[in-house]
Amino acid sequence: MVRVRVPATTANLGPGYDVLGLALKLYNFIEMEKSDKLSIEIEGAGTDSLPKDESNIAYQAAQETFKTVNGGHPDRRRGRLTVNLKLINNIPLARGLGSSAAARIGALVAANRLIGDKLSQDEILKIAARLEGHPDNVVPALVGGLTVAALTGDKVRFLRFSKVRNDLKIVVAIPDFKVSTIEARKVLPKNFSLIDVVTTSSSILFTTAILTGEGSPELLDESMQDRIHQPYRKKLIPAMDEVFNAARKAGAQGVALSGSGSTIAAFSIGNSEEKNKEIGQAMVSTFQKAGHESHYKILDIDREGAVCL
Ligand code: HSE
Repeated sequence: MVRVRVPATTANLGPGYDVLGLALKLYNFIEMEKSDKLSIEIEGAGTDSLPKDESNIAYQAAQETFKTVNGGHPDRRRGRLTVNLKLINNIPLARGLGSSAAARIGALVAANRLIGDKLSQDEILKIAARLEGHPDNVVPALVGGLTVAALTGDKVRFLRFSKVRNDLKIVVAIPDFKVSTIEARKVLPKNFSLIDVVTTSSSILFTTAILTGEGSPELLDESMQDRIHQPYRKKLIPAMDEVFNAARKAGAQGVALSGSGSTIAAFSIGNSEEKNKEIGQAMVSTFQKAGHESHYKILDIDREGAVCL
């Protein structure tokens, strides 16, 4: 039996749409063993809502692993390589914290271990990014830390920064409503003005530099300018601007929609535990004024990615 721990991720970090990702110390666990009959058990998020049959995305990712190493067939003897799967889900679903990336990466890593680690890291990422449709959550879910990623054809190019500020905490406010990434991608324009693209791409560099310790945290908020996705996704997130402002006012140096939402992530650098709680509470009470319950978590950066335990 293989047991894998895989982190939540926050993607985009403001300007880095489909490019930047950061792994967080909030974990799902996946247990997998070969078996004669498929069985899927789920604890935590999605216990009642996620499918427990072949349409389960973790199961499908495992099958992709077997298929890839067996030249297109799911198993050595043309039958199915069935597994018992147990998913222990602490990452909330459809909230922009990379729950689907965690399910897929966790299952790919577990399945790969079951067959003797035949797939390379690049092959795992290639499968995961194809299944996800974008690479920015799957890369940090696999390798941990702060990452920059891009899809070139079907290949994932990525870089993992070896240094991320030690004094960085991510205060996430997780609201009671879900946002579907597929729907949140549909609201974005297909074309952008040159100035929007230039402003946003320079912001990716500024943001990355500050989070890795180059440059002053006071410049973070101004550096996280995004004109590619957040302005268009506001309509999906009640009180998004107000929650951003509440986090800033309470002491966060930067704030962003986590992935495609609905979670909002505040970047808190060098602040006390007390201050981080104030940031979380300020976001929660602002969501509440807009009629939505939410809860906050103060998260550290995960630097390990997916690991077999
Ligand atoms: N980059 C993706 C998006 C992340 O913003 O649609 C989804 O979590």
